[in-house]
Amino acid sequence: MSSQQPYKVLCVCLGNICRSPTAEAVLRHFCQQQQLNVHVDSAGTAAYHIGEAPDSRSQQYAKQRGYDLSNLRARQLSPQDFQDFDLILAMDEQNLKNIQRIEQQAQAQFSTQHLRAQVAMMTEHAQTLKGQPIADPYYGSAAGFEQVLDQCEIASRAWVLVFKSSQKQ
Ligand code: 4NP
Repeated sequence: MSSQQPYKVLCVCLGNICRSPTAEAVLRHFCQQQQLNVHVDSAGTAAYHIGEAPDSRSQQYAKQRGYDLSNLRARQLSPQDFQDFDLILAMDEQNLKNIQRIEQQAQAQFSTQHLRAQVAMMTEHAQTLKGQPIADPYYGSAAGFEQVLDQCEIASRAWVLVFKSSQKQ
């Protein structure tokens, strides 16, 4: 990681109205708390909700923990994101497959096998969550939204440790 340019992380789910905006706000909070030079954004693999604010339930439960999602707006993941970001984080296995499909488009578009972005799971470094998806809360109850927040907080703390050790080098 450069000390000048921020390390750029993109959190990705399906609609970019529930999980990834939550992940964006939570990861940004923990990075800022540790004064890390990390820029965080989010996107969805689907186009259903482009331009929309996060789901009102995501906003409500996030606000109860001090995260403000109200200014975020949904956008769709694009091949260009693989050149603009250093790390793309998938919330679940289906997201990962969809991200890899767009990664192939980026490789074709930019005529390279080596794109800037690495792709990983949001829960990759969280010992207690390892392998678990961040489950889609959209058709579920309040508990699902609280669980997304719990998982994003645990996963973000783990990523912050990874970013901290990289920024020291
Ligand atoms: P997200 O949740 O991927 O966490 O933003 C969803 C939001 C909308 C839909 C599915 C999942 N949808 O089918 O519209």
